[in-house]
Amino acid sequence: MKKKIIILGSTGSIGTNTIEVIEKNKRDFQIVGITAGKNVKLLAEQAKKIKPKYIGIADKRNVEWFTKNYDEKENYLLFSGENGLKEIIEECEADLVINGLVGAVGLIPTLKALERRIPVALANKETMVIGGEMVSELAKKNKTEIFPVDSEHSAIWQCLIGESIEDIKRIILTASGGPFFEKDFEELDCVTVEEALNHPNWKMGKKITVDSSTMMNKGFEVIEARWLFGIPAEKIEIIIHPQSIIHSMVEFMDGSVKAQMGFPDMRIPIQYALTFPKRENAQWNRLDFDKINELTFLSPDLKKFPCISLAYKSLEMGGTMPAVLNAANETAVSLFLEKKIRFTHIPIAIEKAINEHKAVKNPNLKDLLESDQWARNYVKEIFV
Ligand SMILES: NC(=O)c1ccc[n+]([C@@H]2O[C@H](COP(=O)([O-])OP(=O)(O)OC[C@H]3O[C@@H](n4cnc5c(N)ncnc54)[C@H](OP(=O)(O)O)[C@@H]3O)[C@@H](O)[C@H]2O)c1
Repeated sequence: MKKKIIILGSTGSIGTNTIEVIEKNKRDFQIVGITAGKNVKLLAEQAKKIKPKYIGIADKRNVEWFTKNYDEKENYLLFSGENGLKEIIEECEADLVINGLVGAVGLIPTLKALERRIPVALANKETMVIGGEMVSELAKKNKTEIFPVDSEHSAIWQCLIGESIEDIKRIILTASGGPFFEKDFEELDCVTVEEALNHPNWKMGKKITVDSSTMMNKGFEVIEARWLFGIPAEKIEIIIHPQSIIHSMVEFMDGSVKAQMGFPDMRIPIQYALTFPKRENAQWNRLDFDKINELTFLSPDLKKFPCISLAYKSLEMGGTMPAVLNAANETAVSLFLEKKIRFTHIPIAIEKAINEHKAVKNPNLKDLLESDQWARNYVKEIFV
């Protein structure tokens, strides 16, 4: 029997890579649902090839264009608008949800899938930043698995197979350092959007690429690792590894360190999340050790990249604070991409939001969503 897959965010970088991986493994998987935000042209192309039963379009204004241009005879169910993603998960018949959405919008579909005991292959790290505790508790309660897709968390997951959590001394998250790793602190004030989008090793969506340039992405990954693996923040460290060959490491009590390596290609962790516990053959690039001259490691510069400390701080403060961290960051990154604020304004806005917010302890979903909305409004107001 083929595994039935829903891809949330099928038009994005993770989504299109997932479709490619599944096309190479057609024997085992069938895509039954795809969703887009705005890119309905690509969604229609994907739908013509895949003929999914469930289709989601976030922006209702795009539905008319889509239905005119996708006049397939096949029956399909269309979900749209604010509740579209939630409804698609509530109604679909699926064995696995791939969450390739970007931003806070990924939280509710993850929760819905886990409520229905549908396992989730999770790329949407914002889910774990905002609601990590709630999400991991629900997964545990419903005995439903979350398979990490982020390359670092896939690496840690692979290093932990056969190991016991109590034996972990520390988790070492590797970071490429992003495009500004060699710049001086003073130079960051005038970097451009185009420079921030020029990631040295990975081709990804715009938001995560900017997050990599501020290193907020690594801060988010600390929070993600905290909840995915149940490891306290003080045991999670970041190291700059510019070659992006080692995707992360785990050090154990006895001094032994396990690392997972591979060519920097998201199709590898995506395929592993789909085929786990099996591995499938793949044709993509492999590491050629004759061509790797060196593997280097450096400590991150916390003064140059304050987002790292802000992420640790929000995790320590807990409750609704990581949701504020995330929403303040999302809003500031959008403003930066629209060229309305400077690069260095991003951490300033986040810090102000964190200092201003009174964290609600043991938050429910409503508290998390209200704090998210508060932080978005707050950051917009700073820059009016
Ligand atoms: N890309 C990577 O290599 C990579 C690696 C590790 C982790 N991740 C994580 O994976 C997630 C996705 O990243 P990405 O790079 O694939 O992002 P992306 O290329 O920007 O794709 C995001 C997807 O989400 C959809 N979307 C955006 N806003 C939406 C909304 N409000 N409602 C519904 N759908 C919406 C987009 O639709 P439209 O394009 O149609 O608007 C697109 O399909 C992020 O959390 C990122 O941090 C990505």
